Amino acid sequence: MTVERSDIEAAIFEVVEELLESIDAEFEDDVTSDVMLIADAGFSSIDFVQMTVMIEESLNRKIGFQDMLMKDGQYVDDLSVGQVVDFTVDRLNSPAAAGNGAAEPTAAAPTAMAAGGRTVTAQDVEQFVKLIKPRKIASAGGHALKNRRAVFILSPPRSGSTLLRVMVAGNPALFAPPELHLLSYATMDERRADLSSDHSEQLLDGTVRALMQTRDWTGDQARQFIAECEANGMGTREFFGILQENLGDRLLVDKTPTYAFSLDILRQAEEYFEDPLYIHLTRHPCGMIRSYEESNLTRMMPLMMKNADFSMAAVAEMIWLVSNRNILEFSQSVPSERWFPVSYENIVNDPESNMRRLCEFLGVPYAEDMINPYSDRKARMTDGVDNASKMSGDLKFHLHSQIDPAAATRWRQFCSEDMLGQETLELVSTLDAGAASIRV
Ligand code: A3P
Repeated sequence: MTVERSDIEAAIFEVVEELLESIDAEFEDDVTSDVMLIADAGFSSIDFVQMTVMIEESLNRKIGFQDMLMKDGQYVDDLSVGQVVDFTVDRLNSPAAAGNGAAEPTAAAPTAMAAGGRTVTAQDVEQFVKLIKPRKIASAGGHALKNRRAVFILSPPRSGSTLLRVMVAGNPALFAPPELHLLSYATMDERRADLSSDHSEQLLDGTVRALMQTRDWTGDQARQFIAECEANGMGTREFFGILQENLGDRLLVDKTPTYAFSLDILRQAEEYFEDPLYIHLTRHPCGMIRSYEESNLTRMMPLMMKNADFSMAAVAEMIWLVSNRNILEFSQSVPSERWFPVSYENIVNDPESNMRRLCEFLGVPYAEDMINPYSDRKARMTDGVDNASKMSGDLKFHLHSQIDPAAATRWRQFCSEDMLGQETLELVSTLDAGAASIRV
């Protein structure tokens, strides 16, 4: 069915006007096709993403705007409103040009998730696990020194981990910087070598941001220091120790979702730290899958996916399954008093009582600021290194302005559990029967 250009144009103009109002822009002219979104309307990259989400909601269609925002691996410099309209018209009226999954009705009946129109099987999972890069982490050995206690938030990506991190960062007894990506490597130079690609370079920023905060340094000073650590072949345990040095009594909290890709990485936490504490953050797989598709995370792992014939939804489901399985298997070796399961669904529906329970587990007093995650961006390290408003993994966090319980059930408009493979469904039941319910 052809969608009229005039209808699309009207919907997009309305979205842009609404956004201009909400961001209090200085631009006061009428919205026309010629208006440039950055140069004229003053949009930031976050406003761009907000616009695409709002257009999809307004048209009740998944458009797949990433191809409009990115050209040759780079974000575009600017776009006119007319270009957004053209792109949308094109996508809606020529689904073939839209590529994988684009321009489908958002409220479509559930579809099968894996390649070939079927649900994910045990064989798919087996094949997928082989694509995950094996980790060789030098053992610290039983007699080596251990750092003092730290806390790890363990979850697959897209599980609300940024929100939880920022809530935790609101407690003065805790220090929770953006993703550190340390535990996955033995040394700092190995980490640099692995993360130095266009796709993953921003993952190096968490340690920079953490040093800026603990030492009151500029981004350049922090980068320079890290470069020296890399050049000296410093181990990641020692670097963790440097971060902990300046914290006083505060506990370091590291949320890095990729740790859960490998049991070896998770085990490294016990090697590095004295009685570390673990928060297992769960989310319903359909919510995680939908979120993953919207953020198009597979572009972050192009090599891993090069030879695989899985849909993006299947990849997301298998990441959910493998990560949670690894976390649960790892939990078997950790005493229960050091383990705290909590679900994203429970956090957004009842933030206060869940943060109180969490503080009790961590042995720190509850702080009211934990449930106001949008206050004090600097202290919570949500402002980014160098203040650049870069498209980052935390983007969706910035699209909200408060803890939003509706975000936990939004997936129901697009997906259903029928789309999930048998193994995933079994794990959903296991998790749901535990302390943290994920079915809302
Ligand atoms: P959706 O994409 O389903 O909206 P992570 O930080 O682990 O990648 O998780 C991202 C998910 O957390 C996104 O889910 C995002 O919207 C959700 N999230 C971030 N901030 C939130 C908030 N203030 N309230 C509710 N959900 C939030």
